[in-house]
Amino acid sequence: MPAKQERRLRVGVLGAGQIAQAAHFESCTKAVNADLYAICDVADDLRERMAITHGAQKTYNDYDRMLADPDLDAVIIATADPFHVPASIKALEAGKHVLCEKPVGVTVEECHVLKEAVEKSGKILQVGHMKRFDAGLQAAKSFIADEMGELIALKAWYCDNTHRYPMTDAVQPLIVTSANAKKPSENPKADLRRYYMLAHGCHLIDTARYFAGDIVSVHARLSERAGIWCWFVDVEFASGTLGHLDLTVQVRMDWHEGFQIYGKNGSVLGKTYNPWYYKTSDVDIFREADGATHRVLGADGHFYRRQVESFARTILDRAPMEGADINDGLASVQAMVAIARSAESGKRVALADVTGGV
Ligand SMILES: NC(=O)c1ccc[n+]([C@@H]2O[C@H](COP(=O)([O-])OP(=O)(O)OC[C@H]3O[C@@H](n4cnc5c(N)ncnc54)[C@H](O)[C@@H]3O)[C@@H](O)[C@H]2O)c1
Repeated sequence: MPAKQERRLRVGVLGAGQIAQAAHFESCTKAVNADLYAICDVADDLRERMAITHGAQKTYNDYDRMLADPDLDAVIIATADPFHVPASIKALEAGKHVLCEKPVGVTVEECHVLKEAVEKSGKILQVGHMKRFDAGLQAAKSFIADEMGELIALKAWYCDNTHRYPMTDAVQPLIVTSANAKKPSENPKADLRRYYMLAHGCHLIDTARYFAGDIVSVHARLSERAGIWCWFVDVEFASGTLGHLDLTVQVRMDWHEGFQIYGKNGSVLGKTYNPWYYKTSDVDIFREADGATHRVLGADGHFYRRQVESFARTILDRAPMEGADINDGLASVQAMVAIARSAESGKRVALADVTGGV
């Protein structure tokens, strides 16, 4: 690994659960410009085991005490979705920068409250839409911005599959669980339609917005048959780009994620892998000018570590934010709510009109 830089962001991770174990602890320890300074979890067994495994300098069982630590620069919020907004606001009010897991919130209203808190604090809040740190997607984004000209149409799909657990179990570290972990009062998986939208829909929406910008309205249809959830969404982008999103869960095939983009001066075809393979998407960029296709290798496919490094650069070096900000996080939640309402009503729903949660 490259040597650590002299100036490093001291990060405290709130939550020692699945995503912290599979991504954030390692990302902080490998990052050139950040350190895993502290771990906070109410589950004593989990917290202490993870602190030893990953070499965190400090551990806290109480979030307020971690936030009161003057040597802590920033937090990664790696808790269940309903805790994201209150935990983010607490950190901002304590003068800490925040990298919050996706989705940034579960209702439109709480995201607006968080947006106000971010603006008042003057601190950085980045949302953990880590696909923005896939070198293939970044190459596509640069081509769209610099060479492709008018973006005519975008299709994107995110299909989680029935074989995903054997795949992820094989490549992730053993995930340690604890009976003492703090869980939301309602089981998030009690309503699978809502759970799948929050867990997966926000990735798909963020990818679409990353390439084609703001979404104005959606018209969604949902099929729930044979244990397969399938949302087909007709998307109106503010730019006039024609959009179609396919969110399917329990698809009977391999992990299936990607996008097609048609522009004035070229096209882009992308195939994205299950994130736990840490493999950069295969993105073929066709330039009309020379009639040739270009594909970046992206040897470094550690999206989560690259996300933390970029977050740290924004704070330490005042580099522009490459990740999703609070406006992107809010827009993603609005789009998920709009898709849910549209699937129920059969009507087109404007994002500006939605309230409540998915
Ligand atoms: N970006 C991705 O690819 C990706 C993948 C999986 C999960 N996620 C997101 O990560 C988040 C966390 O998911 P998870 O499955 O790791 O959750 P989890 O429930 O397994 O772990 C959360 C941990 O946080 C602790 N915790 C919660 N509130 C606390 C508090 N106030 N003080 C101290 N400890 C507290 C709990 O005890 C628990 O151990 C979710 O929002 C999920 O959507 C993102």
